[in-house]
Amino acid sequence: MHIEYTLKSNKRTEIFRPTEQLVFGKKRTDHMFLMDYDGESWQNARIVPYGNLSIAPGAVVLHYGQEIFEGCKSFKHDDGEIYGFRWDENAKRLNESAKIMIMPEIDVDIQLQAMHALMDLERLWFPEQKGASMYLRPFMFGTSDSLGVKPSKTYTYCIFLSPSGPYYKAGFSDPIRLLITSRFHRAVSGGSGAAKTGGNYGCSMRSIEFAHKFEASQVLYLDSNNMFLEEAGAMNHFHVTKNNEVIIPHFTDTILKSITSCSMLDLNLDGITVRQEFIGFKHFINGIENGDIVECGGFGTAAGVSPVGSYILESGKEYIVGNGKIGPVTQKLYDTLTGIQTGTIKAPEGWIQKV
Ligand code: PLP
Ligand code: COI
Repeated sequence: MHIEYTLKSNKRTEIFRPTEQLVFGKKRTDHMFLMDYDGESWQNARIVPYGNLSIAPGAVVLHYGQEIFEGCKSFKHDDGEIYGFRWDENAKRLNESAKIMIMPEIDVDIQLQAMHALMDLERLWFPEQKGASMYLRPFMFGTSDSLGVKPSKTYTYCIFLSPSGPYYKAGFSDPIRLLITSRFHRAVSGGSGAAKTGGNYGCSMRSIEFAHKFEASQVLYLDSNNMFLEEAGAMNHFHVTKNNEVIIPHFTDTILKSITSCSMLDLNLDGITVRQEFIGFKHFINGIENGDIVECGGFGTAAGVSPVGSYILESGKEYIVGNGKIGPVTQKLYDTLTGIQTGTIKAPEGWIQKV
């Protein structure tokens, strides 16, 4: 693929050393990648200064939400080089989301080339701060100026970068609280829950707002029959049994197939097994109460490994997991994942690629 470059005149010339603790997703770099689909093929690959996009007021995305996105990260290793973590899996998942949302797929190699080109150009933006990383946000949206509810004919694919800190304010150190409620659902069977599409997140805002009333960070969603645990708004869910088993709900068409969860399922962790199950809500609550479940948390690119210290129900009843603190298994999962990402633990073949 040929990429046309239009560079910002005053682009960064020194390594980015943030003076304040970086948060997730606020900061941008100088440039972004763009490419257009004209109804037949992807064309006009370009890197341009980061800035506003021009879009018709009648564009399909603005009315019917035909949009998909990804989130992946790069990390700096001790050799001073920048490495992407499993970007190929994100590129493949973008194409899975495209199928669900009737959008054109993009060859995985083209997506990877675009991510590498942008990250390479912006390498000075990699944040020199403990625990920080560069978050990449590739996304695609329908641009046809048309009010009929049908797939757009034209699309734009864009990638921008965000030098980022932890997703939750307290980072890994302070376990979060999740609300479990039958009032809101993220997805239903036959819907778009397995796609990473904007609408799944737009409709979750009401429930996040509700969760905040209970001083919970997010909702842990149940399936639409309120029987089984599904996932939280921005991460998959796991719990740890007293036998050192890490259990993630089965991926169904209402759950996003998390690359972090898949990584955990693939790893060989000494003395810890990771597997999937259908997890009944009542069984889960009983497990916390009777001590069969000793640790809980979430898996995600932005969230990393996020410990969950307690669950609250709408009645106000709270269930504290173990002693409410980070447990040894969660710590080990966190250390292993961050070790692989930052290069202090050898990564399985193909998991990290040098930019
Ligand atoms: N579930 C949802 C709804 C998410 O938004 C995310 C974040 O991407 C995840 C799970 C975790 O997926 P991954 O580990 O691929 O980032
Ligand atoms: C991610 O973890 O990459 C996400 O997309 C989660 C969220 C910020 C929507």
